[in-house]
Amino acid sequence: MIIAIDGPAASGKGTLAKRVAVHYGLPHLDTGLLYRAVGRDALARGIALDNAEAAAEVASALEIATLDDPALRTAGAGEAASQVARHPAVRTALLAYQRSFAHGELGAVLDGRDIGTVICPDADAKLFVTATPEVRAMRRFLELAGRGVAISEAAVLEDIRARDERDSTRGAAPLVQAPDAVLLDTSNLSIDAAFRAALDLIEAAM
Ligand code: C5P
Repeated sequence: MIIAIDGPAASGKGTLAKRVAVHYGLPHLDTGLLYRAVGRDALARGIALDNAEAAAEVASALEIATLDDPALRTAGAGEAASQVARHPAVRTALLAYQRSFAHGELGAVLDGRDIGTVICPDADAKLFVTATPEVRAMRRFLELAGRGVAISEAAVLEDIRARDERDSTRGAAPLVQAPDAVLLDTSNLSIDAAFRAALDLIEAAM
């Protein structure tokens, strides 16, 4: 059983993917962490994020054990991720790991931008999770404030809009809803309500 959950930054897809995975007893992969880690490793080695070839080498050498790093959750890491994620060679370098994760013994839940379109076009259920930029900015702002990060809500909204623009307009695997994905708008839903709606949509897709 493979469940693909895509959507823009701070749409709630990560939280939903985790809960859906627990519900079905499936492993979960947050694929954004892969791109965040490539951005981190590239910067650590002094590689310019627009250097596609060098970034792809970093992606090929990525150590999966290093994904469990709180530094990957920062806004700066998200920005660096979206810069390296534009390079087709970086995406290609990360493809095999994502596919083999998805096709493990039980299947898996993967969340990202291109799971339903590129990584697992054969997924059993595909959700495209979204919310208005304002709602997403508010959620991200509260999450960051809760972690003691000093940033204004306006700055978070600006970051989200910039990332939406870059992720949706890039040539390689842009953020688009797969034709066979179902849309879940979480703008007016609590986390519990969004989770119940996600389960209903997944059950209907099976
Ligand atoms: O989901 P998250 O915000 O952690 O992703 C960080 C960035 O990584 C995104 O803005 C996007 O550019 C990139 N990404 C991607 N494809 C994925 C997951 C993330 O291009 N499957």
